[in-house]
Amino acid sequence: MRMLVADAFEESGLTALKAAGLDVLYQPDLKDASLAEAIRESGAGVLVVRSTKVTEAMLDAGRLALVVRAGAGYNTIDVAAASARGIYVSNCPGKNAIAVAELAFALLLAIDRRVADNVADLRAGKWNKKLYGKASGLAGKTLGVAGAGAIAREVIGRARAFDMPVLLWSRRFDGRDDMLTNEECTALGFGEGERDLCVRLAPSMLELAARSDVLSLHLALTPDTRQIVGPAVLARLKPGAILLNTARGELIDHAALTEAVRTRGLRVGLDVFEHEPDIAAGDFHDPVAQLPGVYGTHHIGASTSQAQEAIAAETVRIVRAFTETGRVPNVVNLARRTPATHMLVVRHRDRPGVLAHVFDHLRARSLNVQETENIVFEGALAAVARINLDKAPDAALLEQLRAYADVLDLQVVPL
Ligand code: 3PG
Repeated sequence: MRMLVADAFEESGLTALKAAGLDVLYQPDLKDASLAEAIRESGAGVLVVRSTKVTEAMLDAGRLALVVRAGAGYNTIDVAAASARGIYVSNCPGKNAIAVAELAFALLLAIDRRVADNVADLRAGKWNKKLYGKASGLAGKTLGVAGAGAIAREVIGRARAFDMPVLLWSRRFDGRDDMLTNEECTALGFGEGERDLCVRLAPSMLELAARSDVLSLHLALTPDTRQIVGPAVLARLKPGAILLNTARGELIDHAALTEAVRTRGLRVGLDVFEHEPDIAAGDFHDPVAQLPGVYGTHHIGASTSQAQEAIAAETVRIVRAFTETGRVPNVVNLARRTPATHMLVVRHRDRPGVLAHVFDHLRARSLNVQETENIVFEGALAAVARINLDKAPDAALLEQLRAYADVLDLQVVPL
């Protein structure tokens, strides 16, 4: 199968994909119209991207069956358009979590000690121990973590090294003001020895902000989380608190943030911005990045070679599973709940035409098949088909199906 890699991608990943027999086109600079054209011309079945936008027009351009986001966030892909066309969208969750957590702490330590200002003054030939010798220190400060995914877990693990008690809020635990249970810690991915890392919950985002000295965002961008940090949350942060965003710029209302930095002495570490350039290098003039209380980086959270190797290996795993088994790991756009209401179980002789007969009758009754599976018994003389339907089959239909000699038995199970 032909695949198009339209973003920077590790050499090890390209080599592994080629070794797996894929016809790999590596064109990391494609975007917009040139990407749509390459999808059309190449006839690629698989597209691999990082932050490059994947639009509806691109999904319509060629013969894509799978889009792999070689990273965690997939807000740059028109997932609804992919779903409507039966195109899988997969991502690589957790594979860059350590790198992002490391950058969150890099920003935190740099803000507390004003490392960037120290460096800038030294480079300008200035010595100012008087000014820079006034950091507050981190031990004992409460770290509020918004989100309970892989990156949040890595951040929580590292907070212990700095003696920072952790407070957690995520939508999944909204309203809870207690500790996570051992089972919940396990479900979050904490191992046996890490249970003591497990943390107190804050009942809401507002309470998390009010009770934290440092608030770090590790949320996916969704309609519910867009601008979740607005005037109300910012007003609850303690004076001089530190806010970190290594997730998505759109989680924060940047006008309200600018105001809070100016009037309330809020200190901020940002790796992500509302309007990031879609080029690797060029001009960037976001006024937020220029505020004295803000330390910004260039959306480099995931950009360590360790993380990129892990992402490349996961991408290879996804593509190989797709081409070799037809199954796709980490799909983000399958229906969460089946639209089926009833399962028709057909025990039948394993002969040509039996299922075609069943499906013909379903079509005649306008019953829509949502999912189906057929398993075969030892010897391949008999099989069982499980057919999930959008409506209950009526008695007359069941009678017609039973009349067919190769149908051995029928059962209807409400779902
Ligand atoms: C992600 O969603 O994985 C990170 O934001 C990294 O994005 P990048 O692959 O564009 O660096």
